[in-house]
Amino acid sequence: MKLSLSAAVIAVVVLTHAVLLPVLYFRLSDVVRASHERLFVDHARTFARVLADQLELEGAADPPQRIRDLLDIAILNGDGVYAEYIDGRGAVRSRLGRASLHMPAQQDFSFREHGDHVYFLKLPINAAGRTAELRIGFDEMPTEADIARALRRMFAVLAVYSAVSLAVALYFGVRLARPIRELQDAARGIASGDYAKRLRVASHIGELQDLSADLDHMRRALVGVNQQLRAEIAEKEHAESRRRELESDLRHRQRLETVGTLAGGIAHEFNNALLPIILFTEAALEDLPAESPTREDLTRVLGSARRAREVVRKILTFSHKFDQAQFAVLDLGDAVAESLKLFSALVPSTVTLTPELEPSPMPVRADTALLQQLVMNLGVNAYQSLRKTGGAVTVGLRRAADSAELWVRDNGHGMDEATTARIFEPFFTTRGVGEGTGLGLSVVHGIVESFGARMAVETAVGMGTTFRIFFPIVEDPA
Ligand SMILES: Nc1ncnc2c1ncn2[C@@H]1O[C@H](COP(=O)(O)OP(=O)(O)OP(=O)(O)O)[C@@H](O)[C@H]1O
Ligand SMILES: [Mg+2]
Repeated sequence: MKLSLSAAVIAVVVLTHAVLLPVLYFRLSDVVRASHERLFVDHARTFARVLADQLELEGAADPPQRIRDLLDIAILNGDGVYAEYIDGRGAVRSRLGRASLHMPAQQDFSFREHGDHVYFLKLPINAAGRTAELRIGFDEMPTEADIARALRRMFAVLAVYSAVSLAVALYFGVRLARPIRELQDAARGIASGDYAKRLRVASHIGELQDLSADLDHMRRALVGVNQQLRAEIAEKEHAESRRRELESDLRHRQRLETVGTLAGGIAHEFNNALLPIILFTEAALEDLPAESPTREDLTRVLGSARRAREVVRKILTFSHKFDQAQFAVLDLGDAVAESLKLFSALVPSTVTLTPELEPSPMPVRADTALLQQLVMNLGVNAYQSLRKTGGAVTVGLRRAADSAELWVRDNGHGMDEATTARIFEPFFTTRGVGEGTGLGLSVVHGIVESFGARMAVETAVGMGTTFRIFFPIVEDPA
């Protein structure tokens, strides 16, 4: 059976009262009744005795009128309802009493004998040698009424007492139960994950205060352990994702590096081979008369060789072989504006070019020629993505606290994830044979690295593409 604390307290109080109160009531009513009866009997006996003494002194005397007066006094002042004096000569009876009453054969020895509600006494009197008898009866009813009233009052007092003790029990039951319930609520809250819930109760009961303090101590310890565990897990997860990031970054770099070194080596050899071809073809062309038919062939050879050198140059740039590069602190704004002048000449009429260059100073360490190539490569890719549809290319520049951001945006066809993952690979291209070398972004990558800058791409199929490059600001040009 499950019982709430207040219900239990009330049940105990009610049970105790139900058992004890009737016993108490009957014991007390016995005492009340006995004391009232004792008083009544004592009074009756004393009064009768005094009257008998008086009759002994005077009663012998005639006339009987004096005797009747004395008997009347007994009726008037002594709660009597019957008084009679009998001697050898006859009987004298007070006329104030109840005429119908008759002395029973036996006098009363205790209250409420015979059931006639009258207490009868018989007293022998010796007056002047004559034997006489005083018979007297007292009304028991007023005393009965007194007893009943006293019992009623006692009953009322006991009823009030039980009501008050019940109320007190109820009050304490509720007061005791409330803090326990608060603790219970808090404990349930904690169990369901609300660890911030404090286990504190407002109670003046020492045991409850101690219990709540101990429980709260336990909660804080648990919360601490829990937080520590969470922090450790989060830290591990973070470290793991960071590790994976670094790993893939490293693999990517290694691949680029390998291809770059390979391509660089080949390019170098090609460069060495191309140089005499170009030089000697140029020399041969100079020596040849203007009308020579070989001239056209040689011009073609020279054009091809120059295009080949262009490709080789791109490869060499990508391979970090920036032979002619001159790194210096320059204003990024100026350099980009200069590059845009060149680039805008290339932009087809279906494409609008919008520069959004913030005019604040942006000192960065870079090389003008490389920067120009960077803007050009990104810009060309941007308008190539708009070749079929036409659209807008935006080149922007803005300065943050310790970096300058250059972005090139187009609203062209964009790229899917598989393409985006490979765009920096040398020779990766989606263009047709002879249309693209797939080196543009590899070169951009190499240039960005050489500037100590960082690059990010945002793109989605059909949503256009934005390349962002973050240059570190050179605070002190010295
Ligand atoms: N702005 C862009 N919008 C959509 N696709 C792009 C964009 N920029 C680059 N790409 C994709 O990335 C590939 C690689 O670009 P990258 O510049 O390296 O080579 P390419 O443009 O194909 O050749 P090249 O630059 O030598 O002419 C492109 O073929 C193209 O698919
Ligand atoms: Mg390109």
